[in-house]
Order: sequence, then structure tokens, then C-alpha cells
Amino acid sequence: MNKQEVILCDSLVENLSQAIARIPHDRLFLLTDEHTHTLCLPLISDIPEVASAKEIIIGAEDVHKNLETLAQVWMELSTQGASRKSLLINLGGGMLTDLGGFAASTFKRGIAFINIPTTLLAMVDAAVGGKTGINFNGLKNEIGCFSPAASVLLETEFLRTLDQANICSGYAEMLKHGLISNQRHLDELLSFDMNRIDYALLKGLVGESVKVKEEIVANDPHEHGIRKALNLGHTIGHAFESLALAEGRPVLHGYAVAWGLVCELYLSYIYTGFPKELLQQVIYFVRSNYGAYRFDCKQYEQLYELMKHDKKNSNGIINFTLLRGVGEIALNQQAEQRIINETFDFFRENMGE
Ligand code: GLY
Repeated sequence: MNKQEVILCDSLVENLSQAIARIPHDRLFLLTDEHTHTLCLPLISDIPEVASAKEIIIGAEDVHKNLETLAQVWMELSTQGASRKSLLINLGGGMLTDLGGFAASTFKRGIAFINIPTTLLAMVDAAVGGKTGINFNGLKNEIGCFSPAASVLLETEFLRTLDQANICSGYAEMLKHGLISNQRHLDELLSFDMNRIDYALLKGLVGESVKVKEEIVANDPHEHGIRKALNLGHTIGHAFESLALAEGRPVLHGYAVAWGLVCELYLSYIYTGFPKELLQQVIYFVRSNYGAYRFDCKQYEQLYELMKHDKKNSNGIINFTLLRGVGEIALNQQAEQRIINETFDFFRENMGE
């Protein structure tokens, strides 16, 4: 996988004009959803190439991350004359950049694309690192491929329009990047005031956070080894997310990840010696900003079953990424069910209000 260029924008208009000019192409296409068409496109529509690009508008939200929407994008590319040399700009959140990236990577065996993520979650995670895809057969990201964008442009001005919950959701992935990188970055993240957002400071943190992910992806683009570090918090987090959805009280991905981080740091404390004081600091931050996920002991078995079905497992063995300390990563760790149940007890006792 080629290394993708990630740019923390000073001026999206300038940075995007330059990125478009760097990629030889015949026709330019622009993928938006019903929200980014209205709210974000005006910020770049003065660029002459963008103004004359063919726009494809899809439905927003994860419910549209499916084969039908993908076929709609392929169809519009095809009927509007896209060639192997055409260029697609994806303007949206993680659902759109995943789907648009996959549409581009498969159309005529692959055309170039630029990602302009508009949510914090997409900026620090989904739009960077070359994972593309759609949901299929009721399973998230079941179909997809690794395919890097030619450029990823991070315009943090978009974050000013996000609500607090969506900022918190993306921030959980940043917290994860802090935990798998270094103490200085983690301290910066833990001292950030989520209730009075300093957007200039947030921009710097986003830049640093993305570098953590870029470095890991550069070393292991196809997730054979160290890229699994990015799964910290996600094994239990995905189980919370699935349980919440099944119970008709869906939670944003990053909230589930934040709660998953607390649980997996407890497992790290038990199995790999993660320091207790640091665990307490993370618990305090997560409890203050994300509240608690409520469940009772009758649901432990269901959560365990959900974890067993995580697609990152092999041979039905639940595979955790744990930490020995900040930046000290222990891949492919197993945990006994008895200790996982103890983890849920610990979570409920420490995260309750
Ligand atoms: N979201 C985790 C990864 O990109 O590997």
C-alpha cells in the first residue's frame, strides 16, 4: 500500500487546489451526503475545478453504508463518463469516506481519491489508513479493501459545527492513540477540557493523533501485526456497541470505545501490569466525559458471546490488544472468561454515578 499524504490544512481551499493539481485526472467527481452537501460543500465550491465537478449525493448515516448506495455511486460514475483517470473527492464522515474509498478503489479496477473528513472520528481514524468498505449481511465493514487515498485533507474548522457528543466520540480514538504512543501526548489529552473546547489546541492534538496512526499504518498497512494496536478498547467496545444496538438504545462508536478502553486497561492491569494510577486517571476522564454504560450481570454472557464473534478473532479465541504501560503494546493476548466477568464488575463499580 502506498503511503498516503495527510495534510493538516491551513487553508482547505489552497490545500485542496494543490492536491487536485498534483493528481493527473480527466474528470473530477465529488461525493457528498445530504448534510455535507449543504454544510461543508460551500467551503470549497469557489474552487473552479470543484464548481465544475460532477456531484454524487448519497444518504447520510450508517444505514446507507450498503451495497445499494455503493451501486448508486458506481452507476453515477459510469453514466457520467468517469474513466480510469478520473478523480473522486469524498467529503463527509467515516461512513462516506469508507464507502467512497471503496467505490473509487473498485471502479475500473481503481481510480484515485481524496478524502476530506468532516467529523472528528473520520479525521483521526476512518479517513486515514486506507481501510475502505461497506456493511453487508448485517455485519459491519464485511466487504472492503485496503486502499489508501491519494491525499487526506484535515480541515479542523469543520469541528466547530459538530455537537459535543460527536466531538467526544472522535476524541475516544485520540485517547486510544495517546495510550499506545507516549505519556506526554496522553497527558495533553487527559488535561483537555471537553466542556470548553479550545479549537486551536484541538487542531494541534488532531495533528499529533493522526501521526500516531500514520506511523503504525506505515509499518503494518494490512494489519498483520502492530496495526492491531489500533484495536485497543475495541474488542469490548464493539460488544457494548452491539448490545446497545440490539437493545434499541444505540450509542456513538466512540462512547463504546471509551468504555471499552476502561475495561481493556483493567485487563491490562491484571494481565500485563498496566499501572493502577494511570487506569484511575483514564476512568476519571471517561466517567466525566462519557458517563457510564449501564448493564447488569445477566448480560455478561451476551457480551462475552458478542466478543467471541468479533471478526478480528481467529479459531473462536478472543484476541485482545493490551498495554504494559503507555506505548508498551502487548498484542494477541487472551483473557479467561472469569476475569472478563470480573472486568465487567469492576466497570460497573467504578463507572457508576
Ligand atoms: N480503525 C482501526 C484501523 O484503521 O486499523
